[in-house]
Amino acid sequence: MHIHRYERAILLLTGAFLAIAGAALVYSVLIENHRLPGPVRVVDPRTVRQTAPFDNPGLTQTGPSTYQVTMLAQTWSFTPQQIEIPRDSEVNFQITSVDVIHGFTIQGTDANLMLIPGQVSSTSVTFRTPGTYLLMCHEYCGVGHQAMFARVVVQ
Ligand code: CUA
Repeated sequence: MHIHRYERAILLLTGAFLAIAGAALVYSVLIENHRLPGPVRVVDPRTVRQTAPFDNPGLTQTGPSTYQVTMLAQTWSFTPQQIEIPRDSEVNFQITSVDVIHGFTIQGTDANLMLIPGQVSSTSVTFRTPGTYLLMCHEYCGVGHQAMFARVVVQ
């Protein structure tokens, strides 16, 4: 069978790109230890407001420069609305939604979660630069979606 040389070149390039992408995926998982953010545990969204630690959402210091934030998402706000931490703090967020699917992203960081009723989502962020970071819902959740935000103030 005759294969035109341009066709052969395109096939070889395609194969090379696939091999590079596959190698990058294996490298990121095995060497860089990248993982998709998964649910940490399950909760009942009907009773989560009465279930520890979500009955007392807020900021807890867990070490010299580490914090945990327990957070609730609801149409159309986050609880707490603002957290204040010193610079160079590593903050672990534990968040769940009490009603519909919301999103979670923090401006200027790679934090990016889906908040699904019944699941606790988690991510950690180290804040090195002082300032006010906007924490936003990035999943359309109704007419008040654009007003759903909170703030992380790094001193
Ligand atoms: Cu919550 Cu959009």
